Amino acid sequence: MAEWIGVAAVTDCPQGKRIVVDTDAGKVAIFHLSQGFYAIEDRCSHDNGELASGELDGDEIICPRHGARFCILNGEALTPPAYEAIEVFEVRVQNGLIQIDIDN
Ligand code: FES
Repeated sequence: MAEWIGVAAVTDCPQGKRIVVDTDAGKVAIFHLSQGFYAIEDRCSHDNGELASGELDGDEIICPRHGARFCILNGEALTPPAYEAIEVFEVRVQNGLIQIDIDN
C-alpha cells in the first residue's frame, strides 16, 4: 500500500533544481525536470556515494565519484562502474506539497 509522505514545498524545488530530503527510506534526491518531479535514492549502487550533487544531463544523473550514469526516470544504471539500478520513488504534488511514496 502506498505510503505518501510530504517532503518539501513545490516552491523549494523550481524546475531545473534538485533537493535532498531525509526520509524513513534514507536520503532521497528530488529532481524537478521539464517532465515533472522525480525521486531517487541518493545513493550510488556502485560504492554508496551520494548522487544528488552530480552533473545533470537531461534525465540522467552522473555520479560525482566515479562517473556512473543513472536514469532518473527509472533508476536504471546506464554506464559502468555501476551495474545495479537504484531505487526510484513515485512522486505526486498535493496542495503545493511534493509527496513521495516510500512504500515501494
Ligand atoms: S560511487 Fe558512484 S560510480 Fe562509484
